[in-house]
Amino acid sequence: MIDLKKVIAGYSPDTAEIESVRKLSDDLMSKIREYCRIHGINADPLLVGSSSRGTSLRGADIDIFIRFKRSYGIREMEKLGLEIGHYVLMEGVEKYAEHPYVSSNEFGRKVDVVPCFMIDNATERITAVDRTPLHSEYLKTHLTDQQKDEVKLLKLFMRKQGIYGSELKTNGFSGYVTELLIVNYGSFLSAITHISNLKGKLVIGEPEATGKFASPVIIIDPTDQQRNAGAAVSLTALSILKLCGKTFLREPSESYFGMEPDKKPSKNVDRGTIFYIIRLKRPEIVDDIIFPQVQKMISSITRASKEYSFNIINSEYSVEDEIQVLLELETDILPEVKLHSGPPVESDNVIPFLEKNSGNDVMRGPYVIDGRIYVELKNSMNVYDQALAKILENADLGKHINKMKGEFKIQRYKGKLPDLKVSINFLSKRNPN
Ligand code: UTP
Ligand code: MN
Repeated sequence: MIDLKKVIAGYSPDTAEIESVRKLSDDLMSKIREYCRIHGINADPLLVGSSSRGTSLRGADIDIFIRFKRSYGIREMEKLGLEIGHYVLMEGVEKYAEHPYVSSNEFGRKVDVVPCFMIDNATERITAVDRTPLHSEYLKTHLTDQQKDEVKLLKLFMRKQGIYGSELKTNGFSGYVTELLIVNYGSFLSAITHISNLKGKLVIGEPEATGKFASPVIIIDPTDQQRNAGAAVSLTALSILKLCGKTFLREPSESYFGMEPDKKPSKNVDRGTIFYIIRLKRPEIVDDIIFPQVQKMISSITRASKEYSFNIINSEYSVEDEIQVLLELETDILPEVKLHSGPPVESDNVIPFLEKNSGNDVMRGPYVIDGRIYVELKNSMNVYDQALAKILENADLGKHINKMKGEFKIQRYKGKLPDLKVSINFLSKRNPN
């Protein structure tokens, strides 16, 4: 039997950490209160997020919200919020999710200071983050102390598989969703048991509320019947949870819990395929913008490559100081001849087809097989180097990456992969991890 108590203890903040988080957040909040008093600002700080409700793991961030009276205009609230944020977080930088806030690293711990409006009910909401304090209030009365540990187990289980976090980098389960899963199922084991047996979508909530959502995970926010708290979870993340629930229950092991996936690369051997790796410097934009753009870039290239009959069988990426995109192809040299199939001979389109395909690039034909006409054409784009160059030139790779087209470095590898971050990601892709 595995010792879940030991797992929890191994990753929970110890008393010293809890004390230092308390002190740091108390200090920041009294500074905020003082600033508001001196400047006559009608707003109050509040600690929210996992650190406020005993569901945080070691090293978790501190989320402080500043709640403004609703009589403030939204622009004024944002401006004052940033001003206060910079005042208390001297090294802080401004971030924009849906909403501007100040973020900083204080003694090695991430601290966010986020302005919002004070509301009693989600229907009064003005900005997307106004409900966050309501989450804390709800969970205060819906999670027992034992269940806070169950939340930690579920977070550790998801983290190990790389599916924890609602950012666009991960498209996984947010902290709040994890907490709602424990509220609903009662414990880690019952949540995992239920989800691993689930067929189809994960749905929690009254049918009147869940009915209008279509994503793989639908979890109605108890503080707002109009919102799907699970909207960010991808089908892949849900499926990984189902799969790993099954394998864990078949053979439970402490190795299913951790802060992040292990990078245990498979052996770097010649797979009989060809790799292309595109490298560019990362533009200075936030993860929530650059990650979707890189994903979009890969799907554009894959689609366009298919039009040139190049089959990309796998792709992978790494986004750090450098963006690296890996494409794996069955082959990067196609025959010089390409079969072009035409309409049925009975069709009115057959004459236009013959007229269109009568130039120098016809290598053989036209000819008829069964009811249809065919022609064999010379494939002038039969080498992937050239096709890729053309694809990159013409494709819309997203606003920020489009600007960097001139700086792409493209390398072809036959056999083993080079020593790059993206190669490690490619070789380490594995669930259960
Ligand atoms: P965090 O992302 O810091 O989550 O957002 P967390 O619950 O504190 O979990 P960890 O332990 O740091 O990973 C802080 C709060 O903002 C709201 C939630 O109420 C969350 O608790 N939030 C955040 C959302 O409602 N949705 C989101 O996608 C992100
Ligand atoms: Mn947090």
